Amino acid sequence: MEKNKKEQGLIASIFGTIGDIIGTFIHDILFDDPGRPGVMRFSLPARTFHWTVAILVVLLGVTGLILFVPGWGVAGLACWTRITHRVCAYVFGTVLVLYFVTYRKNSLSYIKESFTWKREYLGWLRAAIDYYTGGDESKMPPQEHINPGQKIWQLTTIICGVILFVTGAILCFAKGAVAPGVFQWSLFTHALAFIIGGCMLIVHAILGTIHPRMSESLRSIITGKVSEEYAKNHYGKWYEEISK
Ligand code: HEM
Repeated sequence: MEKNKKEQGLIASIFGTIGDIIGTFIHDILFDDPGRPGVMRFSLPARTFHWTVAILVVLLGVTGLILFVPGWGVAGLACWTRITHRVCAYVFGTVLVLYFVTYRKNSLSYIKESFTWKREYLGWLRAAIDYYTGGDESKMPPQEHINPGQKIWQLTTIICGVILFVTGAILCFAKGAVAPGVFQWSLFTHALAFIIGGCMLIVHAILGTIHPRMSESLRSIITGKVSEEYAKNHYGKWYEEISK
């Protein structure tokens, strides 16, 4: 009986959270007031790009998993899985090139930001476990536009993305043209980058949607804005810079 109550509590909280996330999406897309006070974190093109990529990556991940797991081969053999996987990869590639060409400065600064690492980030990394498990917020050093955890995610998207595109191109177009060893290594590396990128994506999505400390995170990637208070607490250095 006791266990039943606990399970019901867990199920209710999971459904409650999913409901909150869907509610935030619908509310913020349909009813957000653009004049609401706050600071802009993500521009409209960046947000549109983010959600386009997110949908494509989830589709690529699901179809890739079906093709990859031997027991699920029936769905793979049905051909649609493979076609969907390839079409999403072509669309993704096209979207990426178009975005890069159109927003060259933003794209280059994304790459630069991801590869710029400072010694002081060690302080954030040391304090992070305590902070994300409910520890004292004041112990966290003030952050730039993104924190080192988000930088690790950005780096992952670049490194895993490049590996997945290069090995994916070999798997798609070069079967028979490259040595069997190269083909096998491409398959292995493609799967490895998928597993690492996939695990990091799960962490990214959980932190961004349901972690209590990141309360305005989902909102910021839908509407672009966070409150001044949130910006000050989470990204102190960035807030100081933009307030000048
Ligand atoms: C599918 C579910 C996803 C969800 C729910 C999600 C959610 C979010 C949220 C809430 C933010 C804002 C974080 C903040 O600054 O407070 C964000 C930012 C970002 N997302 Fe996603 N995202 C998803 C997928 C992806 C994918 C597939 C990629 C790239 C392959 C991606 C790349 C990024 C990047 C680079 C940022 C900016 C840096 C950061 O804040 O981590 N996201 N996302």
